[in-house]
Amino acid sequence: MRFTLEGTTAVVTGACGKLGPIWVDALLEAGARVAALELPGAPASPAFQDLQRRGGDAVRRIDCDITNRASLEKGLASIEKAWETPFGLVNAAALDSPPDAPPEENGPFETYPEASFDRIMSVNVKGTFLCCQVFGGAMAARGRGSIVNIASIYGMVSPDQSLYQYRRDRGEIFYKPVAYATSKSAIYNLTRYLAAYWGGKGVRVNTLTLGGVYNNQDPKFLERYNAKVPLGRMADANEYNGVVQFLLSDAASYVTGSNIVADGGFTAL
Ligand SMILES: NC(=O)c1ccc[n+]([C@@H]2O[C@H](COP(=O)([O-])OP(=O)(O)OC[C@H]3O[C@@H](n4cnc5c(N)ncnc54)[C@H](O)[C@@H]3O)[C@@H](O)[C@H]2O)c1
Repeated sequence: MRFTLEGTTAVVTGACGKLGPIWVDALLEAGARVAALELPGAPASPAFQDLQRRGGDAVRRIDCDITNRASLEKGLASIEKAWETPFGLVNAAALDSPPDAPPEENGPFETYPEASFDRIMSVNVKGTFLCCQVFGGAMAARGRGSIVNIASIYGMVSPDQSLYQYRRDRGEIFYKPVAYATSKSAIYNLTRYLAAYWGGKGVRVNTLTLGGVYNNQDPKFLERYNAKVPLGRMADANEYNGVVQFLLSDAASYVTGSNIVADGGFTAL
């Protein structure tokens, strides 16, 4: 079965976030061993703890700050000691401003804090770059691998600020901020650069662009968001699993440098 990842080793960053544990699970289901990278000290969510119980020896949490090359090198060394050089890498770790972030983070563009811009660019762009450098570099040296960089519809198109008008109508100052959108758009050319650079080394690199995942958002937001989506709804958290499995597997052996968009049609309009 060409979709299988049986016997391979994969890395998922942001493994204790909302989607990370779901992708770790999807890769286990396809037969991979998974190194689950997360910030040192970040609590293991119940979903992640459950995964560790069910996955047994096939899941290993590795504490790494993806903005720190030495930390990633240490992580790679421990994966290679326990298993082997990874074949797959899903770059999922990222920062966004949560809806309840301090007002200056969700305020107007003109006063968006420089420090917030640096923090988000550091994790989302530099962190993804460093993971590609360390893990992708090891894959290229071994002559095989597949990397999936996770982007967002807000990296392809601008956030539609009218989706958040309901918050301004109730007196809040709220604009979906600029840094996340800027950082996610950088992922496309990092992917293309590396697909071209490693084309002859057996390492494929692709972007997976996600639409929003349903997470009990405000009904007023949902009504407006869903009206912009041809499929009429936000994604269920497990609806990206098939694409992640596909991109890592040999079924995608001729796919590199691409952007697969799984957004219910949001960017088709
Ligand atoms: N959830 C959505 O609706 C949605 C929509 C579009 C795109 N995405 C993208 O999908 C990916 C996963 O999203 P999510 O909702 O699971 O995010 P999340 O915020 O729940 O999880 C991100 C994880 O990354 C970790 N992280 C942050 N900084 C780190 C660092 N320096 N080193 C190591 N780990 C670090 C966090 O601790 C967290 O566990 C992200 O790239 C996100 O931009 C998500």
